[in-house]
Amino acid sequence: MEIVKLNVNGCVREIPVEHNWTLLRALREGLGLTGTKCGCETGDCGACMVIIDGEAVRESARRLREEAEA
Ligand code: FES
Repeated sequence: MEIVKLNVNGCVREIPVEHNWTLLRALREGLGLTGTKCGCETGDCGACMVIIDGEAVRESARRLREEAEA
């Protein structure tokens, strides 16, 4: 378990996450933001879409580590 900082809707939040969590899981389980849905988990359906730096991203397949390094 590690602590990551996420800027969500303009607020920086620190949350504990497992090393293999996706952004979707951190949003839903770590922050309780269940508006982001889990669908196919393969990047096909768009249910998990979020806006990152102004771009719509189907993020379920993205690990938090990838986000931190982007
Ligand atoms: S859950 Fe289907 S694209 Fe993310």
